[in-house]
Amino acid sequence: MDTTLARISHLPAPAEGSFADSLVAGLAKSPKELACKYFYDEAGSRLFDQICELPEYYQTRTETALLTRYAPEIAALMGPGMEIVEFGAGSLRKVRILLDAAQDLRAYTPLDISGGYLGEVVRALAAEYPALTLRPLVGDFTLPLSIPDLPGNPRRAGFFPGSTIGNFKPDAAMALLRRMRGALNGGGLLIGVDLVKDPVRLHAAYNDANGVTALFNKNLLARANHELGADFDLDGFAHYAPYNAMAHRIEMYLVSLKRQSVSLCGQRFDFAQGEAVHTEDSHKYTIESFREMACRAGFNPRAVWTDEDRLFSLHWLESR
Ligand code: AVJ
Repeated sequence: MDTTLARISHLPAPAEGSFADSLVAGLAKSPKELACKYFYDEAGSRLFDQICELPEYYQTRTETALLTRYAPEIAALMGPGMEIVEFGAGSLRKVRILLDAAQDLRAYTPLDISGGYLGEVVRALAAEYPALTLRPLVGDFTLPLSIPDLPGNPRRAGFFPGSTIGNFKPDAAMALLRRMRGALNGGGLLIGVDLVKDPVRLHAAYNDANGVTALFNKNLLARANHELGADFDLDGFAHYAPYNAMAHRIEMYLVSLKRQSVSLCGQRFDFAQGEAVHTEDSHKYTIESFREMACRAGFNPRAVWTDEDRLFSLHWLESR
């Protein structure tokens, strides 16, 4: 038996309710909206992995290059003997760079909302790192977080790559940073943040030529169809993702191409022709604006790394 292959634990179930509740509530609003965390069922997690490989989606390869290049420096700042806690762990690809560089790593705790996907990727990681103590947790990092202490109480280092922080409006992003800081018991946070840049480049990253991002966006509707028995016509909606230069964010929508109604959980929802459902925001920061927010969240920005073209940034924040 492999004792390092920890069983997956579930953090307390979301008090705010399920995909179904969120969908019904979001479609009853005006304007309509859906919560972007529901992109990530198993199919959605896979589609997101495909996005990360797209030529237009510079984020993943730029961040991976930064991690690779600065891993020794990052590991030195983190110090020895810690537990790495990853928020929204996804494919577990990037963390391998940290696991390889870390000094005297005590444990790795990946937290993800998609239990099925997490189980699969954790199994592969455990095979590759047989000596690593792995503690996979299924849960929603947007809810109040309490991560049980491990024996010996190792210091924690948080890992929040990919600019997932961009999904939150600045106020909510700051509140989330604060909560992560609390969950880290005074440990630091390594966080990836996408930077403001040429809007044409940003636009291309969310409107790829192969339509993978469109499929990812429409996966919310596909998921509603197969999980909840809804009858969304996937061809009846268009993926639309403009860059809002005033608000420094990509905004993602599903736009109804015709007048239609959809039934879902015993209710009917009407869509006007051209009506938009807001599905995601992806906020971009400058290095300075992000550091300022981190300070307001109770962190001390200790180090920042960026690429030559200033596409992406990686920050090491210490708790104050
Ligand atoms: C996972 C939130 C960082 O905002 O770039 C990619 C999600 N949406 N393409 C991002 C996403 C459309 C992604 N994050």
